[in-house]
Amino acid sequence: MRLDKFVCESTDLTRSQAGKVIRQGLVTINGTLVKQAALQVTADDVVCLDEQQINIIGKRYIMLHKPAGYVCSTSDPDHPTVFTLLDEPLLERLHTVGRLDLDTTGLVLITDDGQWSHRISSPKHHVAKTYRVWTADPIPVSAIAQFEQGVMLRSEASPTLPAQLELIGEKEALLTIQEGRYHQVKRMFAAIGNKVEQLHREKIAALQLPDDLMEGEYRVLTQHQLQLLGLK
Ligand code: URA
Repeated sequence: MRLDKFVCESTDLTRSQAGKVIRQGLVTINGTLVKQAALQVTADDVVCLDEQQINIIGKRYIMLHKPAGYVCSTSDPDHPTVFTLLDEPLLERLHTVGRLDLDTTGLVLITDDGQWSHRISSPKHHVAKTYRVWTADPIPVSAIAQFEQGVMLRSEASPTLPAQLELIGEKEALLTIQEGRYHQVKRMFAAIGNKVEQLHREKIAALQLPDDLMEGEYRVLTQHQLQLLGLK
């Protein structure tokens, strides 16, 4: 890899800023000052910027247990963002894979790999998401068939794709959907005359939110967990 690209991928510098610090003589490879941005760096080389060793950050894949009261966008005038919960470099390069509402808790994936997040959130790929739902009114058994057949959401042209509802208690259920329409779960329950009081995402594809990952905590996904998402 070219030296300027290496510097760029190891720091928050842009390609042109990386070129500048190299020309200024702030970069060494294996202790030797270098000024050519096009020099090739190999995996064994030790690169220093301002006498500090720098390493490629690489693509990041994170799971977060989102607490209520946090937004999934990068900025918000009224509420903290989920990114304030992360102690990671180059936060500005990260984004959430889809969004949970302000009051929804549970599993949120965060990455700087746009292709990966697109494959998970794109409706074409039908990646399943499972939510634990607590409702205001009892959930009738007939809701299972209604959600399996698809329901019409207000001001939408097509019904929802088949969704699986498992009744857990009178007002508690697990709902698995394969789309990510705006406020989908809340609107599906509204479509059958009920109201979601509390919503928690437990699972995306086969990746379950770990029991020991407390609200506000996060972890880098292991290779195995990436495989559970079926995309790596
Ligand atoms: N559906 C909703 O209504 N809200 C969420 O946060 C996620 C899915």
